[in-house]
Order: sequence, then structure tokens, then C-alpha cells
Amino acid sequence: MRQQAKGQIHERITAIPNAWYPIYLVRGEKRNLVIDAGVNLLGPRYYEVIRETLGDDQPLHYLFLTHSHYDHIGSAGYLKERFSGLKIGAHERLASLMQKPTVLDMMNRLSGNHVELHKYNPDAEDLTLCPFDIDIPLKQEGRFDLGGLTCCVYETPGHTKDSLSFYFPEIQALFPGESAGVLQGTTGSEIQVEFLSSYQDYIDSLKQMIALRPAILCLGHGWVLDGKDAEVFLQRSLAETYRYRELIETYLMSAGGDAQRATEEMAYTEYDVKGGIFQEKISYVTNLSAQVRHIAGLNGP
Ligand SMILES: [Fe+2]
Repeated sequence: MRQQAKGQIHERITAIPNAWYPIYLVRGEKRNLVIDAGVNLLGPRYYEVIRETLGDDQPLHYLFLTHSHYDHIGSAGYLKERFSGLKIGAHERLASLMQKPTVLDMMNRLSGNHVELHKYNPDAEDLTLCPFDIDIPLKQEGRFDLGGLTCCVYETPGHTKDSLSFYFPEIQALFPGESAGVLQGTTGSEIQVEFLSSYQDYIDSLKQMIALRPAILCLGHGWVLDGKDAEVFLQRSLAETYRYRELIETYLMSAGGDAQRATEEMAYTEYDVKGGIFQEKISYVTNLSAQVRHIAGLNGP
């Protein structure tokens, strides 16, 4: 089955909308964890729904981040200020990126594009992304006991070098961030392939996730899949990644190996003409350019 990423997904999992930028609350018997921090402009909304779902007397113990993109860490600082004792966990690479003013400037610029989300900040709070500390560096084989649920950390690079996925074996629920791709199109039927840092790492990460055989798949954007749909999605995502690489190679070939021209032609055909991709065009082209350059061998391994 497939459902939008909002509301109760499982007795222990709540997806907190906006469905396109969801964050996931996982409640154990002893500890509570939020996965990802979405975009900055939704900070007040995320906070309100987490509070409502937990009740006034329940603390939020952990916030774990899947990767260092602005639409996955946007409200981390905001939530940390509001939940006392909240510990933020992420890959250690993310911690060093957070210290770079140029990275934060870019993230604030990208966040600022989401004018449609200003309505979720009715008190016009200052939601500028500021550096925040990583309290818990997360690594492969990290284990966190929430009480009846264990959060198992998997390093799943390929989308970014710092991509992590979180798996809860007791309920077979996997939170891959964007390590497994994104469902796109108006019906959510097309898979957008998301390797940015490394094609080969992305393939290896997908295989690692397929081997887990998750029964619930809470994607980084838009959708939650379960049962057969979860399994089929991961297999399709792998097949789509192979196909996408071939597509990029075709555009590169017709552009005579010129990565810039191949990117422009591919963006025109795939984004402008075919359409159905929700991502901002500027983000789409930035990502596509990285993918084309990577396949052209211009970005290192
Ligand atoms: Fe991302």
C-alpha cells in the first residue's frame, strides 16, 4: 500500500506534514525520536504537531538527520531550542559542513525560495538557519534502544557522502531519507534517481537496503510504502538507477561529451517538456549537473 507521508503510519510512527517535507516521530516505550528536520519555514508547525502527539509531559530525546540538505535539517536548530535536552545525531561530515558560513548561506537562499510555506510561520518568527551542534556522531552499526524499538544506523552514501538510513527491526520500518530515491510526478509513480556524490555508492546502498527487506518504507519526501509496495519500490529504484545512468550517457554522447550542454538539454527535455517533477527547477538543475559531471568522470570517483 502507498499513502502520503502525513498522520499516523503505524502505532509507533507519525509522519508530520507538510507531506512533501515530512519529519517522522518514532515513539518507543522509553524514548522518542524524530527523523529529519525538514525545511526551516515549517519549524513552528513541526513543533506544534510533535508537542500535540507526545503530550505535554513527554520529552523528545533524539533528532537524527538523514543527510546534510537544507530540506532535511532546516528546523534542527529551532527544535533543539524548544525541546530541552534534545540530542541531535548525524554523520560527522554534517557537523563540519554546519560550521561553514557559505554552506549555511546557500541553505538559507534555497529555503527562502519556498514562499508558499510562509503561511506556516504566522508569528513571523526568525527561522534563519544557524549552525547547531551534533551531539551524537552516527556511524554504521550504531544502535539506540528506544524501549521495544531499536534504531539501527546504516551508512547509505551515494545521494550525499553523509547519507544515513535508520532501520527498526522490530517493526521492519526503514527511513532512507533520499538514499533510495524519490517518488515523483502527480501520481507519485515515477522514481527520481538521487545519486549526487557517487553512482557506485548509491547502487551499493540500495542493495544494502534491499537486503533488509523492510515492510514499511518512510521516504524522505511525499510517500510511505508498505508490504509488497515497499519491496517493489526498492527493486524498481535500483533498476531505474541503471536506466538513468544510460540516459545520462545518451545525452552526454549527443552533446559530444560536453557535460554542461548535456545538462541543459536533459533539463529541457526531462523537466520542461515532460514535466511532473515537484522539485524547484534550480535545485533540479544543480543536482542534475552534479550527476552528469559525475558520470562524465569530472567529479572524481
Ligand atoms: Fe537530499
